[in-house]
Amino acid sequence: MRSEAASPILAFHEELASDIRTGLAGPGQKMIPSRYLYDDLGSALFDAISFLPEYGLTRADERILRTHARDIVGRLPGPITVAELGSGSGRKTRWILEAIARRGSTTYYPIDISRAALTRCALELGQLPSVRVEPIERDYLRGLSEVAARRGKSDRLLLLFLGSTIGNFEPAQARDFIREVGERLKPGDGFLLGTDLLKPVPTLLAAYDDPLGVTAAFNLNLLMHLNRDLDADFDPGSFAHEARWSAAERRIEMHLVVRRAHTVTIRGLDMRIRFEERETIWTESSYKVEREDTARLAKHGGFDCLSQWVDREWPFAESLLLRR
Ligand code: AVI
Repeated sequence: MRSEAASPILAFHEELASDIRTGLAGPGQKMIPSRYLYDDLGSALFDAISFLPEYGLTRADERILRTHARDIVGRLPGPITVAELGSGSGRKTRWILEAIARRGSTTYYPIDISRAALTRCALELGQLPSVRVEPIERDYLRGLSEVAARRGKSDRLLLLFLGSTIGNFEPAQARDFIREVGERLKPGDGFLLGTDLLKPVPTLLAAYDDPLGVTAAFNLNLLMHLNRDLDADFDPGSFAHEARWSAAERRIEMHLVVRRAHTVTIRGLDMRIRFEERETIWTESSYKVEREDTARLAKHGGFDCLSQWVDREWPFAESLLLRR
């Protein structure tokens, strides 16, 4: 049986150690889960990506919420409590909270494993009149279980999962996840799910390999994260960022391509890893979908798709799912 770590920070470190062992030690494709892209510097670089002209995803998400928040909220009558997977940027969630607060006071539960992100979010959104912010420092599903235990009995829950984070899950993982989410919600609850839609391949490749190199820095910082947390000696200059489109899987893949054969030592794990020229570490998949895919995915969690809003400038959909 796996022992439970004493704190979320220790648990995260244990998981990182085990993911790196399994992801880098084997003979096949090397891979590191994309959630390790988001240490403090990685999160700041992701914020910078959201301003790049080539990366329209975050702005499309925000545009839909700004334009349609009242309509979205209007589909769910009665008092609403809000929870969000990932504490989000106040910029996007604000529109939804303001629309709900027009009808009466509400509680907002941001769920995140990063205390710093929760603090920023509470500062930003705690100012809104009629909104009480109750941060929950947990992973998504544990946090959602906690919301289920704390929420008012008569309120509906509106759960937000914005920014197409679901697109970074493998399809089987996304189905399991939606089922687990559905189990924690009650009939009549809403789930607002953001997904990035298929678009021309050159547009996608430019979005994940921008000319300023911000996405490259975001990807390479993963190695710096391992240097800091696991006492490794990765040289970022020995790797190059690459974005690939897989038409068969309908996903963008981010890789770190080895420029020349070398060996890396990870002292914290007592490991030495040989890298051959041109082999890659696969660091992220970003699946692109069609509107109907989300309606189909919703069924796995016992949800019906009530309505969808699509941005005109950058194909991106916000789907409002209703728990049956
Ligand atoms: C967070 N996630 C939806 C982003 C995406 O587009 O898959 C992460 C990202 N990776 C590179 N650029 C942005």
